[in-house]
Amino acid sequence: MSEEKKIGGRAFGQTLDPEKFIEEQISLIRGQVGDGKVLLALSGGVDSSVCAALLIKAIGAQLHCVHVNHGLMRKGESEQVIRVFRDELGANLTFVDATDRFLDKLAGVAEPERKRKIIGEEFIRVFEEEAGKLEGIRFLGQGTIYPDIVESDKGVKAHHNVGGLPEKLGFELVEPVKYLFKDEVRAVGEALGLPHSMVWRQPFPGPGLGVRCIGAITRDRLEAVRESDAILREEFSKAGMDAKVWQYFTIVPDIRTTGVVDGKRTELWPVIIRAVNTTDAMTASVPRLDWELLETVTRRVQAEVAGVSRVLYDLSPKPPATIEWE
Ligand code: XMP
Repeated sequence: MSEEKKIGGRAFGQTLDPEKFIEEQISLIRGQVGDGKVLLALSGGVDSSVCAALLIKAIGAQLHCVHVNHGLMRKGESEQVIRVFRDELGANLTFVDATDRFLDKLAGVAEPERKRKIIGEEFIRVFEEEAGKLEGIRFLGQGTIYPDIVESDKGVKAHHNVGGLPEKLGFELVEPVKYLFKDEVRAVGEALGLPHSMVWRQPFPGPGLGVRCIGAITRDRLEAVRESDAILREEFSKAGMDAKVWQYFTIVPDIRTTGVVDGKRTELWPVIIRAVNTTDAMTASVPRLDWELLETVTRRVQAEVAGVSRVLYDLSPKPPATIEWE
């Protein structure tokens, strides 16, 4: 492993030099790929984005990216992927808006593991269809990072993410960030000039907002998750808390609670705020958020998000609670 880690830009235990790493990888990628074509599933997450940016630098038009919007992305995410990769970096990028397909398949499904399975399988189906339309692809680019290898070896994270593409696709893998840790991937992303918001994106589950729209997903409740999440992110960023809290998001469970609007009784959903600090996501603590910040988010969510009447802050550390609600 230490030999291979040396190829990854530095000897084991040494600090990574991002510029040197990029240079090395460009020549390694060119050596592996030659004049072949590489296909990459680009989710917009840190790992696949850095992998794509490296491949664009190394082989330009020989890379073909596919971005699948499964309808469970956060607000503005697919747009950012298109802006950065197609418009700014000039990548070949196929954008597939598969929202209807995913939401139709998920209709009425409340069980978390089934939801995950449907999302994962449908993702592979969409990706295979897109791959089938492209000619002469020999390689598959993947933003696998070192902890992914360790965790899947230990069986911790089997097919945790959508984009765990099947071997039967028959491609040879190109995995330029395979020996990097997350902070190193971020350093390389910054050196490659990717936007700060992309490089420092919070961890986001492959099944996306699907794990935060508890119970059977409906379009209106999913919209309530997406809009409240956008408000939370905006207010955290304004308050300078985005750099101080490790992960924060909102959840909308499938329950109705009473309220009153214009003198009339309503039955609307609650929005739950989750914010945690952690180093490894195995245990997590809940930060003491500023009261004013919580009040501002509450006021905005009540005023701007359709179908919602109240806002709660989850005070539960992990364990025994998990970070996500599922
Ligand atoms: P839990 O809910 O298990 O989450 O305490 C721990 C961390 O993992 C994230 N998470 C995922 N990350 N793919 C990912 O890459 C997934 O499918 C997934 N599910 C949960 C979660 O957001 C938290 O940071």
